Amino acid sequence: MNDDSATRPGKVSRSDDYESSDECRPDQESDVIGTDDCADVILDSFDATGATVLSEGTDRTYTDAVDELDVDGDPDRGRGLYDWWSGKERLYDGVMGLAEPLREDTFEALSLESDEIVLDLACGPGTNFERLRDGVGPDGAVIGLDYSPGMARQAAELVDEQGWSNVTVVLGDATNTCGPDQAFDVIVTTFALHTMADANTVIENAYDALAPDGRFVVLDSRPITDGPARIVNPIYERLIAWTVNHQRGQDTRSLLEETFDSIDVVETYDAGAGYLAVATKDA
Ligand SMILES: C[S@@+](CC[C@H](N)C(=O)[O-])C[C@H]1O[C@@H](n2cnc3c(N)ncnc32)[C@H](O)[C@@H]1O
Repeated sequence: MNDDSATRPGKVSRSDDYESSDECRPDQESDVIGTDDCADVILDSFDATGATVLSEGTDRTYTDAVDELDVDGDPDRGRGLYDWWSGKERLYDGVMGLAEPLREDTFEALSLESDEIVLDLACGPGTNFERLRDGVGPDGAVIGLDYSPGMARQAAELVDEQGWSNVTVVLGDATNTCGPDQAFDVIVTTFALHTMADANTVIENAYDALAPDGRFVVLDSRPITDGPARIVNPIYERLIAWTVNHQRGQDTRSLLEETFDSIDVVETYDAGAGYLAVATKDA
C-alpha cells in the first residue's frame, strides 16, 4: 500500500504529546517494555485523538464522554441505531447467537498467541472479549473500540463485572483512528465493517495501526457475487440496511484487497454473502 496516510483526508494527525507506539517494540527480543506499558501508550494516543478510554481511574467519566460527543446533526445513522440495539440485550444476543459458529471459525483463524496486543474493532457489547482474553493470556492486552455510546457502555460494564484488568474499552470512531501506527499485533472485526459509513477509511486506519507482519481478521458480509442466489441481493441488502445499517453496494472484501498486502479468504458462508478473511501487512 502506498504510504499516503499522513495526507489522507479525514485522517487524524497526531498531537505533539502523542507517543509513538514504536517504542513499545524497539525489537522483539527486548524485554525492556512490557505489554502493559504498550497498552498504556496506545490508550494515551486514543485519548490524544479525542476518543475516550472507558476504564476506572481515567479523569473523564462515561457520562462526560457521552456529553462531549458531537452527535448533533450526525449524518451517521449507525451510532443511533446501535445505541438502540444496545438497550435490547436479549434480542441482540439472540440474533447474534445464530452466527456463533462463524464466530468460532474467526477465533480459530485468529491463532492468537500469548502476549499479543489485540484490537477488537467495533467491539459492540464485548461479545468477543472473553475469548480474545483467553487467547492472549494474562500478559497480552485487548482493546475494544466502538463509536456507539450504548455499546461501549455495555462493553465497559462487562469488563468491570469480570474484573479483566487487561481489557479496556475505547469510545471512538474508527473512521478517525484505529490507534497509533503499528500498535497492534492483531486486529479483529466481526459483523461490523459492512455497517460502517466509510469502511474504506476504517480499513486504511486498521492497516496503519497494525504492526509489520500483523494480521487483520475480518468476519463480514457483502452482496452475493455468484450464481442464482444473486437474485435475493436487493431484498437482502434492504433488510440488513434497515436493521444493521448495512451500507449498500460497499464491498468490504474488495476494499481489503486494495489496501492490504495479501488476503486469504478462509471461509465463505451463505452463497458468498458472508466471508472470513485474514488480511496481512508485510514485515
Ligand atoms: C453488528 S455490531 C457488531 C458488534 C460486535 N463486533 C459483535 O460481533 O457482536 C456493529 C458494531 O459496529 C460499530 N460501529 C459501526 N461503525 C463504527 C465506527 N465508525 N467506529 C466504531 N464502531 C463502529 C457499531 O456501533 C456496532 O457496535
